[in-house]
Amino acid sequence: MQTNLRGRDLICDLDFSKEEVETVLEVAFDLKRKQALREPHPYLRDKVLAMLFFFSSTRTRASFEAGIAQLGGHGAFIEAATTQIAHGDTPKEIGEILGRYFDGLAIRQCDWQVGNAYQNEVARYSRVPVLNMQCDLYHPFQCLADLMTIFEKKGTQLRHRKMVVSWAYAASYLKPISVPQSLILQMPRFGLDVTLAYPPEFALRGDIVEEAKAQARRYGTSFQISHDMAEAFNGAEIVYAKSWGPLMTTADKVEGKRIQDSYQDWITDAAKMSLAHPDAIFMHPLPADRNIEVTDEVIDGAQSVVYDEAENRLHAQKAVMALTMG
Ligand code: CP
Repeated sequence: MQTNLRGRDLICDLDFSKEEVETVLEVAFDLKRKQALREPHPYLRDKVLAMLFFFSSTRTRASFEAGIAQLGGHGAFIEAATTQIAHGDTPKEIGEILGRYFDGLAIRQCDWQVGNAYQNEVARYSRVPVLNMQCDLYHPFQCLADLMTIFEKKGTQLRHRKMVVSWAYAASYLKPISVPQSLILQMPRFGLDVTLAYPPEFALRGDIVEEAKAQARRYGTSFQISHDMAEAFNGAEIVYAKSWGPLMTTADKVEGKRIQDSYQDWITDAAKMSLAHPDAIFMHPLPADRNIEVTDEVIDGAQSVVYDEAENRLHAQKAVMALTMG
């Protein structure tokens, strides 16, 4: 069990080794049990987490804020728009200054080609851990909660069981590519055979796909790419279907929406789920465009695990905070 996590940042999923992720999940399950039993666990008494948001959130904000309170600390919600960042506070100043006030800095900055660089620059100057609440490239806490949920539903013996990470149509906005990129990096380390499915314009970043293939080779799993949603669902035990923007093709919102609108048949419905393994689970990080990305029948159906997945954000994040802060 690798426990040397004190003071560490979590910005990219691979910042923690496989053994360190196993430690996080072991602690997360213990904290979930303690929370269910109402057993106090104030591992971070008097510690304060800054939660700096450049983008809206329901689950991430609520679960980090509840989590730090349950650990005996306090979460300070800071909306970037209400700070002096727009008037000149640099990432160095945010890292140097907030790092002297707080015991951890959690940041959501998803702007394309900005967010990850911003978080790394803050981390360079921060004396306390920087925790990525989502950037343009990665959503590591979502991915930890997803892995925890897979362990709960499928057990930890995942070798050569098929997971499909599929693009889905959405009408609301061009969503970040961070969730699928985190999934393809992390899941091969735990033995899953990953199939990544998307229309041609929705490719992920080439270097990240190459790293995902390298992880698959290292852990003896398979990693495949498909441009056919139905074919990709075939036999999958884990169906993770969500939308993301065609950001590697165009960052233009109007052109991106035009491309996106041409794939409205990429919806997860009962017919597509019937192609998956009979015991398949349906996963989605939420929020979902209901009846556009996924039908009510599927997301509210017996195979859906989306609420357990959302709950596990709390436990996984508490585990990382308890292990890294203080
Ligand atoms: N899944 C997720 O990160 O949800 P929020 O955007 O609501 O935080």
